[in-house]
Amino acid sequence: MTEHYRVVAVNGSPHEGFGNTSQMLTMLGENLSREGLTLDEIFLSQYQIGFCTGCATCLESGSCWVRDDYNSVVRTVLEADAVILASPVYIFNITAQMKTFLDRSLGYGHRPRGNWKPGLALSVSAGHGETWAADYLGQVLRLFGAFPVGKFTAIAVGPGEFLGREAVEARAADLARDLARAVKEGRRYPPTDQDLLYWQFMSNLIKENRDFMAADYEHWQELGLFKSFEAYVGQTRSKGAMGEIPAKAHRKHQQEAPETAAPSETKSQPGEPNTARELLEMMPGALNPAAAEGLTATYQFDVSGSENFTAHLVVTDGQAAFYEGAADHPNIIIKTPAEVWLAIARKELNGTTAYLGGQFRIQGDLGLLMKLKTLFIA
Ligand SMILES: Cc1cc2nc3c(=O)[nH]c(=O)nc-3n(C[C@H](O)[C@H](O)[C@H](O)COP(=O)(O)O)c2cc1C
Repeated sequence: MTEHYRVVAVNGSPHEGFGNTSQMLTMLGENLSREGLTLDEIFLSQYQIGFCTGCATCLESGSCWVRDDYNSVVRTVLEADAVILASPVYIFNITAQMKTFLDRSLGYGHRPRGNWKPGLALSVSAGHGETWAADYLGQVLRLFGAFPVGKFTAIAVGPGEFLGREAVEARAADLARDLARAVKEGRRYPPTDQDLLYWQFMSNLIKENRDFMAADYEHWQELGLFKSFEAYVGQTRSKGAMGEIPAKAHRKHQQEAPETAAPSETKSQPGEPNTARELLEMMPGALNPAAAEGLTATYQFDVSGSENFTAHLVVTDGQAAFYEGAADHPNIIIKTPAEVWLAIARKELNGTTAYLGGQFRIQGDLGLLMKLKTLFIA
């Protein structure tokens, strides 16, 4: 029996089935089917896929907790033998539907898959931007473990009115043949300078943020990806990155949500602060003098939620003091619900995740926020 191969095309155009992007995919599909391959088109606009909230939970727990259509769509893409990313040009770029889908795929960028499979990038414009958009889509195919066999671009001055239609159709035939051959041969692609740069960047990022990017760190360690670029590009298996969404991950997120950290539900140990005010009052006693050496900074806290007050901490050269009220010239103002700050102090909530998820806000020097982790000993 001959093997059956499946190509999946993600179409970011709202013109489902009749737009120029769809017409170009049809040209490819007809040629692919002659080669014995099936092309399935996914219209992103038919699915509920919400914006990435930037909560970064996927980096910490290994999966996106949001329950919408994203996970089922990306699973189809990951399981395909080849992937096509296709978008018309909207204001010199890909459409919002496609960008939203890509943003939700952040976790895959942190866990590059071995086994690069063939892919294609496709874009159409009315005359400006299709090459740029296709180049970009060609780059981001890597998120899904795919490498661009080629780029399929066209200009259409109206629906179905392709400039040089014959050339567009001939290009579709050539690319479909190349793609089919690559799939059937099980072709894999050699690394490029971009892969090397990406590996250097990502391995440093994950090592430096190993607490926050715990799941990524574990993944890279387990597959030996930190060891060398050769180990990275020689991956023979791709541990299921975010394809499988464990129920655990969802529960984990729920534990982290601020509403579950309401004071009535949290229990403090003797000697631990019961309120955000107590916590801030106790912070000078927990100062790490080594980390505070040479530092002069005023941290102001605008606390809301179950408590409502403003206070500030002044750190000067190895010492810290607590003061009621607003500071004259704070270097950073942290605006936080009391419950959120307490949950972070109790390690029930990751501070970076809470910040990225908008659970508290800051004004001023972001570097001072980052420094808090080492400045006060938990
Ligand atoms: C909101 C919007 C923005 C657009 N921006 C551009 C653009 O920047 N450059 C361009 O050449 N065409 C632009 N176009 C035209 C589309 O790229 C073009 O009509 C394309 O063929 C549409 O493909 P579709 O039918 O698959 O949706 C834009 C169209 C829309 C609706």
